Amino acid sequence: MTFVVRAEKVSKNFRLHSERHRSFKDKLLRPGQGVATDFTALTDVSFEIASGETVGILGRNGSGKSTLLKCICGVLRPTSGQVLVRGTLAGLLELGAGFQPELSGRDNVYLSASMLGMSTKSVDAIFDEIVGFAELEQFIDTPVKFYSSGMYVRLGFSVAVSVEPEILVVDEVLAVGDERFQAKCMDRIRQFQRDGRTILLVSHNADQVRTLCDRTLVLDRSQLAFDGPAADGVRVFRERLMGTTSVVGDDGPPRSAGTIDAVSTPSGRFVATTGEKWEMSVAVTAHQAIEGHFVMELHNDRGELMVRSDWEVAPVSLSPGAHVIHVDAPSMSLLDGAYQVSVGIVSDLGSQAVIWREQAAVLEVTYRGRGSGLIQLAPRVRVS
Ligand SMILES: Nc1ncnc2c1ncn2[C@@H]1O[C@H](COP(=O)(O)OP(=O)(O)O)[C@@H](O)[C@H]1O
Ligand SMILES: [Mg+2]
Repeated sequence: MTFVVRAEKVSKNFRLHSERHRSFKDKLLRPGQGVATDFTALTDVSFEIASGETVGILGRNGSGKSTLLKCICGVLRPTSGQVLVRGTLAGLLELGAGFQPELSGRDNVYLSASMLGMSTKSVDAIFDEIVGFAELEQFIDTPVKFYSSGMYVRLGFSVAVSVEPEILVVDEVLAVGDERFQAKCMDRIRQFQRDGRTILLVSHNADQVRTLCDRTLVLDRSQLAFDGPAADGVRVFRERLMGTTSVVGDDGPPRSAGTIDAVSTPSGRFVATTGEKWEMSVAVTAHQAIEGHFVMELHNDRGELMVRSDWEVAPVSLSPGAHVIHVDAPSMSLLDGAYQVSVGIVSDLGSQAVIWREQAAVLEVTYRGRGSGLIQLAPRVRVS
């Protein structure tokens, strides 16, 4: 394979000095002996990215995503291993990486474009376009230290795409901008895809990765846990991410304790009415005895999680073999829309999926009332 980005056993350690825990007396007696510990942000990460691929990087907070992007962009040097890049690369990294705070937006545009290899003349030619895309005409001569994070990201993204790099690297900072600007960025990223450019994208939005990317890298506690087709990566990520607590000592691959074979409803159609009862059946084959809790999630059509059910109230105990789990929701509280239904069984702590099926069905909800928003409140009103 001819690659445009290649990471070879990339590891990155940060040295952490914890002066904080030393007493004043201790510091006087033994100056300069603060406790230094090494923190590993990346461990032996290897992969190759081919020209024209769109690769999504998923992982929990602190798993090393931004560190990896910085190593790829050359902002950080790996402690060991190396990154090879073929072609011009421009990136929108974390907030704070990239611009000089004291300089104006204008000066920063020239500075960062020149660092990306553009001459002043060629920046002149696209300057208005950069500022226009960022919608910062009025603030372009203001020092960027006075910019809001949204303004900062708009300018950073605009510079990165306007220099037309062969490889575009975007950290999840895009989520900072307002929705309309995010949509504009996504259009630009899709345009890049059509042009056959290579894109590396960290996103907190797994569904965005699924729809946009060809391939997903999943980082888990500094290690590359998965590298493969986008949809499979999203599944691995979400299986590991279930709940908020991480399971200590669980380093294994996602377990295959069983499968979710089908979801169905009594009427055969996945429709519900706001405020009314709704039912569903989940056919499961357990390959081993499973003790856990049933969980379901509904995502809206933008991939946002609308609800994850409370695992605690839904214990299930399955012997090896085929089972049907009956699910009853007394009142559908979502307003109208189409919702992706994901179901699974999580472990006792609610933190790991034992079996999981992403987007098992699409549920169409109809709302007959006149309220608005996301959910039905159904208040009762009386006058006294
Ligand atoms: N400059 C740094 N000094 C010390 N620790 C760092 C530094 N940058 C990142 N880290 C640590 O490395 C880990 C990975 O960080 P990061 O790559 O930002 O994760 P992510 O982007 O996946 O949230 C985190 O635990 C973070 O605290
Ligand atoms: Mg990050």
